[in-house]
Amino acid sequence: MPDLSALKEHARPRAPKIPGATDAQREQGRSLAMIHAMHLSDMAMIRQMVGRIEHDRSAAKDLAEAVPELAMTQNLRNFGALCGRECNNLLFHHGAEEHHMFPALEELGDTGLRAVIAKLREEHEVIHALLEDLGKGAMAVMQSPDPSTYAALRDTFEMLDAAIRSHFGYEETELQEALGVFQVL
Ligand SMILES: [Fe+2]
Ligand SMILES: [Fe+2]
Repeated sequence: MPDLSALKEHARPRAPKIPGATDAQREQGRSLAMIHAMHLSDMAMIRQMVGRIEHDRSAAKDLAEAVPELAMTQNLRNFGALCGRECNNLLFHHGAEEHHMFPALEELGDTGLRAVIAKLREEHEVIHALLEDLGKGAMAVMQSPDPSTYAALRDTFEMLDAAIRSHFGYEETELQEALGVFQVL
């Protein structure tokens, strides 16, 4: 099992129930879960690619190409743009949450909801660090394709995948009602 201690799952606040929320509103709030499902299916494709490069060293190049530009988007270090389409999509998704969805909910919600959003913002940072590690790991495999770099890349991917699943689950569950009630999305 990947070590998700950085995510501090035990410290996750729960969103207070909103009095008068209807099933129809909660149903609307499920749209976030549907967006998350698209990201998870992209992660499944990346998983297949990680599996391939464990058997085919030349496929390591594919991974780097399929995952471009995390570094650029994030203005992070200059180790090159090596993350890729899904990394970018995920960063874009988090950016939309941080700059649009979260502020709207912070304004309309109560202190309990704001505590959830503060935790979600922290979790984005954990995931961004893992995306950065994935880019570095792909580069390490290209530079030195040996069992240790493969194993490190696999470990990073498993950690990222588990962190994303955990974060998505928490986020879509706790925000569902508020998203529907406040008509944010
Ligand atoms: Fe999020
Ligand atoms: Fe999200």
